[in-house]
Amino acid sequence: MSREEFFKLLKRLADANGPTGRESWVRQIVIEELKEVADEVRIDSLGNVIAVKKGRGTGKFMLAAHMDEIALVVSYIDDKGFIRFLPVGGVIERNIVGQRVRIVTRSGRVVKGVIGLKPPHAAKPEEARQLPEMREMFIDVGASSRSEVEALGISVGDFVVFDRDLELLGEKRVTGKALDDRVGVAVMITAFKELGELDVNVYAVATVQEEVGLKGARTAAYSIDPHAAIAIDVTIAQDIPGVDEAEYVTRLGKGPAIKVIDGRKGTGLISDLRIVDKLVEVAKAKSIPFQMEVAPGGTTDASAINLVREGIPAATVSIPTRYLHSAVELLDLDDAINAAKLLKEFLESIDSEWVSKLRGEKIK
Ligand code: CO
Ligand code: ZN
Repeated sequence: MSREEFFKLLKRLADANGPTGRESWVRQIVIEELKEVADEVRIDSLGNVIAVKKGRGTGKFMLAAHMDEIALVVSYIDDKGFIRFLPVGGVIERNIVGQRVRIVTRSGRVVKGVIGLKPPHAAKPEEARQLPEMREMFIDVGASSRSEVEALGISVGDFVVFDRDLELLGEKRVTGKALDDRVGVAVMITAFKELGELDVNVYAVATVQEEVGLKGARTAAYSIDPHAAIAIDVTIAQDIPGVDEAEYVTRLGKGPAIKVIDGRKGTGLISDLRIVDKLVEVAKAKSIPFQMEVAPGGTTDASAINLVREGIPAATVSIPTRYLHSAVELLDLDDAINAAKLLKEFLESIDSEWVSKLRGEKIK
């Protein structure tokens, strides 16, 4: 797929509003994209999209990429029309001050607002240096009373996402909101569409509620019962000023990352080495650039899938991304395009015998 085509697909996905637990708008796009090439597509009870491409054999291989994005939820509307909120997923204070936001109302209508703060002119120097706590922050939608806010269709329980559209920076880097994990979804769709002859049956799963505890992946893996799985998600790229090279984790433009371990002290996923080695072998054989990833924190859907039923061997292919969980996440399109290529080549190269052995063998 060309950069232009991939950018178009990613923009469609990233600009859509998909707060965790309210993924319907993203889900619609995913279904449209997968429907034409899949042998089967279904939505399960939690809202995961499961698309299947059939192979010659009986092996089942699952891909997972999450549709949801970190969000806020309206918790209170005051008399003067200011809106209080709580975080949904890994939202941090310093990434939301001064941001424009979209409130997604019950009717699906979107109302824009800003996260307000005292101007520096009025704040004491000490106060100006400090970040307010989230409970002191508020959203201003330009209303001056609670009834005006309600007249806009906003009610307690509505979800809020960053108001940011994807932009190209230079020739091949992009910035926007929700690249975590719409880029994973775009990579999965691209790989799935380009799959040729297969021996294994490939399940492409666009999951829900990853950002609040890897929920959709867990139930989807239980119902599919795959022999093995790969999650596709973003990872830390700290190749920025002020960070020691030893702590970059990954770098932009150096290819997709093949993860070895993640989570604090390895409490996330420890990737199945047989899958890792196969990914490396395929990348080398097909001259696809890649980097190895050892992440100090954070994890993905693969951790949940790994512990379903009697255990499902899992690994992760990551797209290096700067400024995670902010409105200006930034990545290199070529890393994503190469991730799709790596997954396509990997899935075409494995067979049912190989994947079934991953789930264990009878010794005697
Ligand atoms: Co995330
Ligand atoms: Zn993610």
